[in-house]
Amino acid sequence: MESLCIRVSRKAGEETRMKLAELRAINKNLKIRIEKEDLLIPVTKEIEGYEIEKSNFEVLEKEPSISELLGFVPAYEQIGDIAIIDRHEPEAQRIAESLLRRNRIKTVLQAETSIMGEYRTREVSILAGERKTETIYRENGCRYMLDLAKVYFTPRLATERRRIADQIKDGDRIVDMFAGVGPFCILIAKKFPAAHVIAIDKNPDAVRYLNENVRLNKVKNAEVREGDARDIAKGISEVDHIIMNLPHSGIEFLDSAFGMIKNGGVIHFYAISHEDDLFEGILEKIKEAACLFRIQIIPLDKRVVRPYAPFQYNICIDFRVVSLMA
Ligand SMILES: C[S@@+](CC[C@H](N)C(=O)[O-])C[C@H]1O[C@@H](n2cnc3c(N)ncnc32)[C@H](O)[C@@H]1O
Repeated sequence: MESLCIRVSRKAGEETRMKLAELRAINKNLKIRIEKEDLLIPVTKEIEGYEIEKSNFEVLEKEPSISELLGFVPAYEQIGDIAIIDRHEPEAQRIAESLLRRNRIKTVLQAETSIMGEYRTREVSILAGERKTETIYRENGCRYMLDLAKVYFTPRLATERRRIADQIKDGDRIVDMFAGVGPFCILIAKKFPAAHVIAIDKNPDAVRYLNENVRLNKVKNAEVREGDARDIAKGISEVDHIIMNLPHSGIEFLDSAFGMIKNGGVIHFYAISHEDDLFEGILEKIKEAACLFRIQIIPLDKRVVRPYAPFQYNICIDFRVVSLMA
């Protein structure tokens, strides 16, 4: 069937596909085509910034959607070939059986607890499918192997990770203080081969996967360190960007970040805040910590990253650090 389409090199294919998906421009009824070194992505409309052409595409057979199968829209999260259903879902077993009818889902888990503890993990049980909790998840052109029972991971930060990566320059020195299995630092290391990334995590399982993911994505400029970010920070200085993605207790680690950042460097600080005071309370605490360090902070950007719980939001504040000692 003939359709409008966008031609991109295979190398840039995944990034472009994600951008087009965000713009809801991909014609999902048609199969993306490979033509020599190019991908032809069928689209439903013209999109600013892209050259449009026309080509023929194979029509995909339409699977019944999960909501068509169930008669309602189920809430679940898909990470690689594993789906996770919320622990409070009364129809979990029925949803699990329907999800398994989707080719890509091999296992359905149910969360048994909320995300908790220092390592930000949750207990899960296997509802249906293969008895496994390990999967490979693709995001922003990278692959991450991870075990959903042993490490933290959410696919809901994909856009946020790209946004941070877009602020880095080749040659920068970056510290990802709470790196998990590496979705911020590996993306950055891959995108900027001349940058140097130090990725820290305290959870030995997260570090095992972080090392595996460095290999999987063939990045040569990421240095993995296992341990408490406070201890590891002591040996690091002159950093251009620090990512602090520990939203519930990042404030307690600000002094370590201030010790590592170079004059003029940028900190990307995540927190959870109430809708009545999204940014000001957190900014005050950051300023208080900065004052003790005799530094000034200059907010560059503040934004809501995603809803977190009723009335609560995961937010990010990017700020520049300027020394007052000079
Ligand atoms: C919210 S998760 C973020 C992981 C990763 N940035 C991501 O986006 O998937 C926080 C991570 O910080 C790690 N962590 C918690 N306390 C830590 C500490 N004191 N030092 C280093 N890592 C820590 C946890 O093990 C967990 O992997």
